[in-house]
Amino acid sequence: MTFLYKADPVRGAEWARLFAQKAPDLPFHIWPELGDPLAVRYLAAWEPPAALATTFPNLDVLFCTGAGVDHFDLSAVPASIPVVRMIEPGIAAGMVEYVTLAVLAVHRDWFEYSRLQQQGLWSPIRVRPVASRRIGVLGLGALGTAVIDRLQSFGFACGGWSRSAHQLQGVDCYAGAEQLPAFLARTDILVCLLPLTDTTRGMLDRVLFDALPDGAALINVGRGGHLVQQDLLQALDTGKISTAILDVADPEPLPPDHPFWKHPRIMLTPHIASMTQPETAVDAVLANIRRHRNGEPLIGLIDRSRGY
Ligand code: GLV
Repeated sequence: MTFLYKADPVRGAEWARLFAQKAPDLPFHIWPELGDPLAVRYLAAWEPPAALATTFPNLDVLFCTGAGVDHFDLSAVPASIPVVRMIEPGIAAGMVEYVTLAVLAVHRDWFEYSRLQQQGLWSPIRVRPVASRRIGVLGLGALGTAVIDRLQSFGFACGGWSRSAHQLQGVDCYAGAEQLPAFLARTDILVCLLPLTDTTRGMLDRVLFDALPDGAALINVGRGGHLVQQDLLQALDTGKISTAILDVADPEPLPPDHPFWKHPRIMLTPHIASMTQPETAVDAVLANIRRHRNGEPLIGLIDRSRGY
């Protein structure tokens, strides 16, 4: 019985060291060094290999090393094999840092001051009380709720929207398509932390932007596929959206002549908002392996009918 890892090899070496410490009885291999493919019971991958089912007929669990599995071809994974996405505190901590940084930068007019400095202008903007700034988080999973929790500690007025109803202390929660317009109408800074599915693809579009207050800001830390790029460019032109902070794009990287690169109101980062951290990820994976062996429910199990 072996564990196979197929993702970033540098972090893989750390996984190997941690497995040797924490699960010395479970042999660990790093792709492309497979050992006996018939012995592979657990596979952790960012991109699963082709012919998964025939190469690893005894696979018990497929782990995604990332938080989102939208790039997995689930139809190539036999229905009997559970697919598990990464829920671990390291990813959440990174996401909380990035979104807090982005929200505070918008809230404290950081981008405006950068423009003013370039123009040699010493021009104070009145500081707006934090409680009057309404943050809206799309997606209330592990990451969305961690982000809201931290933003609440600053005193921001926090709201959240998700597909199904949630209740969070002190958060204006909205659910389903019919409550989306009301959620958007109360949102000054919109954070997208949704999974990418057939339903959410292209959701950040003109119709959605039009439902926001004028001058709202957008922070996309979901997937590039959530955003309709032309609609964002238009919304920035009209002032509907004041600033966009984008950590994800479609494709990644964007082509060199893409208008997002040099747009004065777009801040672009190369999909670094958060990264799986070996120490905590290995703990999460080993805990799920124990659960699987005990017949207990797995944390982060993908519901194939929902796609996340
Ligand atoms: C990265 O975007 C991930 O899904 O972990």
